[in-house]
Amino acid sequence: MDYKIRTKIARILIDDQIPVDSNITVLGFVRTIRIGKEVAFIEVNDGSCMGNLQGVVHNPDQFPVLEKILTGASVRMKGKLVISEGKGQKYELAVESLDLIGEADSTYPLQKKRHSFEFLREIAHLRGRTNTFGAVGRIRSKLSYAIHTYFQERGFCYVHTPIISASDCEGAGDLFNVTTFDLSNPPVRDGQIDWAEDFFAQQVFLTVSGQFEAEVAALAFGDVYNFGPTFRAENSNTARHASEFWMVEPEMAWAELEDDMDLAEDFLKWLFRYALEKCTDEMDFFGKWIDKEARRTLESIVDSTFERITYTEAQDILAKSGESFEFPIGWGKDMQTEHERYLTEKKFGRPVIVTDYPAEIKSFYMRVNDDGKTVRGMDVLVPRVGEIIGGSQREERYDVLLEQMKKHGIRNLEDYQWYLDLRKYGSVPHSGFGLGFDRAIMYITGMANIRDVQPFPRVPRWAKF
Ligand code: 4AD
Ligand code: MG
Repeated sequence: MDYKIRTKIARILIDDQIPVDSNITVLGFVRTIRIGKEVAFIEVNDGSCMGNLQGVVHNPDQFPVLEKILTGASVRMKGKLVISEGKGQKYELAVESLDLIGEADSTYPLQKKRHSFEFLREIAHLRGRTNTFGAVGRIRSKLSYAIHTYFQERGFCYVHTPIISASDCEGAGDLFNVTTFDLSNPPVRDGQIDWAEDFFAQQVFLTVSGQFEAEVAALAFGDVYNFGPTFRAENSNTARHASEFWMVEPEMAWAELEDDMDLAEDFLKWLFRYALEKCTDEMDFFGKWIDKEARRTLESIVDSTFERITYTEAQDILAKSGESFEFPIGWGKDMQTEHERYLTEKKFGRPVIVTDYPAEIKSFYMRVNDDGKTVRGMDVLVPRVGEIIGGSQREERYDVLLEQMKKHGIRNLEDYQWYLDLRKYGSVPHSGFGLGFDRAIMYITGMANIRDVQPFPRVPRWAKF
C-alpha cells in the first residue's frame, strides 16, 4: 500500500531531483519528534543518505496518532515538499497525512544522545540507524562498487574463489575447520581423527585467502581479481584484526613485483580519490565527527608518491631510529605494527612499500631472489593503520617452488600438485596482492576499530548476531 511510491530522502537532499511543491510520500525512522500546540516536527531518516527530512505537521490536534509516535518508530508521511523556513535544512515536508507503521516504545536504545561505540557493538542490530554506522554502511557499499569498477574498467576478470578450501595459503595455521562430524564422537583411525570419513573425505577449512585459486584463474584469464570474505582464527585481539574480513585480491599473469607495486599504488590512490569525490556526504561527516584530518590525509596520499624500500633498508632505518620499540628489530625479525607505523608515520610521513623480505618470515609461494635469502614480497604500509596490503611476485619455477615448499615444512605435497602444475604447463611470471577491505575502510573513514567498520564483526570470543 503506497510503499513502492516512496521518495528516498537521498533523491531530495543529495540528488536534488524533486521539485518544490511535489506531492510525495516519505517513509523513515523517527529520529526526533517535537509536538507543540500549533505545530509538530518529525525528523525522519530512511537510510538512503546522512540527512534527515523534517516533516511539519500543522494543527497537531487533528493528528491523534502523534501521541503514539516516539523516537525509533517507523512512519509514513505524505505531503508537499517545501522550502524550509527553519535553519539547518533546505527542504521540509508539509505533512498532510501521517501513518504510524511500526511503533517503538521508550525502551528504544537509540535515544537522541551520543552513544559509545562499545555500547553500540552490543546492539549491532540497531546501530545501522545511527549517523556513524549509516555512513560506514553506505561507504562500504559505494567502495565495493568502486572496486569492481576499477578492475572491470581495466579488463580484469572477476573470479569467485571458494570459501571452503583445503590449503593454508599463508602457512600460518590460523584456520577454521569445516566439518560435519559429531564433535563429541568423531571417527578415529590410528589415534587420529579420520578425515577420510568426513563430508568431503578430507580435512577442509574456511579460506584465509583466495590467492591460489586466483593464480589458477590468472593463468587462464590473464588479469583477474576476487573480492570476498576470508577467515583467520588468529587469536589477536587488536583494533585491526578481525576473524572474518573482506579482501580484494588482484592477480596478474606476465607481471613482476614492480608491476604489482604500481598496481597497488594506483589502485589505492584511485580508491581514496573515489571516496573523496563520490562519497562527499559521508566523508564530510567523518571529517566533522570522527577524524578532523580524514579528508586531508586522503588528499595528501592521492598526490603523493609511495616510498619504496627493501626490508633490509627498513631494518637499517629502524636500527638508526633511536626509538625504543617494544618488539625486537634486526634482520630476520618479523616487522610489528609499531615498526611499520614508525616507518610510514614518522620516517616518511606517507605510504611506504616494503619489499624483499627474508624467506623464512614469508609464505612459501613468494619468488626467491638471486641472493637465495630474500623473496619478492611486498607490504604496503599506511599511517595509523600499518599494513593495508600484502602481496608478492609468485615463484613460477617448478623446482624452486618445490624446494621452498619442503623448506617451509609442507608435508602433504600431493595436495598441492595442482598448484605445482601451474608451473609445469605454460608457467609465467605472475604477481598479485590482497587489500584488506575493512582496513581500507578504517583508513578512509578514520574509524579507530575494525569492529566499527564491519556490520557484524567476528573477533575472538565474539560472533553475536
Ligand atoms: O598479508 P596477507 O595475509 O596476504 C595474503 O593473504 C595474500 N595471500 C594476499 C595475496 O597476495 N593475494 O593479507 C592481506 C591483507 C593484509 O595486508 C591486511 O590488510 C588484511 O589482508 N588482513 C586483515 N584484515 C583484518 N583482519 C585480519 N585478521 C587481517 N589479516 C590480514
Ligand atoms: Mg601480510
